[in-house]
Amino acid sequence: MDYEPSDVTVVDRKDEITSRIPRPAEAPAPASPPQQSSETPASGLERMHATRHIRLEDLHAYYGSNHAVKGVNLSFEPGKVTAIIGPSGCGKSTMVRCVNRMHEEIPGARSQGRVLLDDVDLRGPGVDVVAVRRFVGMVFQKANPFPTMSIFDNVAAGLRFTGTPRDEITDRVNAALEAAGLWDEVEGRLSEPGMSLSGGQQQRLCIARALAVEPAVLLMDEPCSALDPVATLKIEELIGQLKQRVTIAVVTHNMQQAGRVADTTAFMLSGELVEVGPTEKMFTNPDDERTEQYVTGKFG
Ligand SMILES: Nc1ncnc2c1ncn2[C@@H]1O[C@H](COP(=O)(O)OP(=O)(O)OP(=O)(O)O)[C@@H](O)[C@H]1O
Ligand SMILES: [Mg+2]
Repeated sequence: MDYEPSDVTVVDRKDEITSRIPRPAEAPAPASPPQQSSETPASGLERMHATRHIRLEDLHAYYGSNHAVKGVNLSFEPGKVTAIIGPSGCGKSTMVRCVNRMHEEIPGARSQGRVLLDDVDLRGPGVDVVAVRRFVGMVFQKANPFPTMSIFDNVAAGLRFTGTPRDEITDRVNAALEAAGLWDEVEGRLSEPGMSLSGGQQQRLCIARALAVEPAVLLMDEPCSALDPVATLKIEELIGQLKQRVTIAVVTHNMQQAGRVADTTAFMLSGELVEVGPTEKMFTNPDDERTEQYVTGKFG
């Protein structure tokens, strides 16, 4: 079962806004400061800060007594897309939800192990969960625009929540829409409802919303599974462009998609990481027989 909180990042916890992930000695620097408001959307993209490295160390996750993720060690490398594949129920979504600490929101759920963003343990004491979700954005299977908000406000929501000065918001919204490959399609209709967009556009709107706060890492849980082939292709092209500035992990059931977008592929089975390696090797000459059986469609 997938947990798809809709407005999860917009909660009224303003006291947490000010406390960020510890820095600078113990933690990576935050996004570079916003610049003047005369930028075009394209130049705004350059503000997206350097990519970051995520490393899961002996990560376990549970729902009550159900041990859903069992001691996973896995890296998401900067500049690369990591695909996470495996049969339904093997723990893919649970694992990625641990990265931005959404797993702990589920009643009865718990996790242990380390989730390192560069050298900071995102699960460590004193780490602010709101800051974690600013650094680690998430896009879900089903596009979830805020239903009552305009296109503009959907993208601006996270910026407003994190206290971005008003005079910077327009440029940053435009930059995020540009980065999400949506600008050309929505320019001139930014005040229309987000829900008035097509499914593929809504998914790119959600990507823009995630990008607006300049995350270091973007987790995408089956981002194309509700989309047609044309919309899917657009998202895949976008992933290819974004990986230069955002570290990306994509959960997918689509082997062709993993082959097209991912530099690295990780195969999970029954909560365990069976194998991880360069995508081409994983699909042509994997080390583990179970990987070979899965990628050739013999099970799952
Ligand atoms: N909210 C939840 N509450 C309780 N158990 C859950 C919850 N979400 C997932 N699980 C259980 O955790 C295990 C892993 O589920 P998870 O959703 O991570 O798998 P998945 O690999 O993402 O599957 P799918 O490909 O179907 O999305 C399964 O046994 C599932 O039933
Ligand atoms: Mg899932």
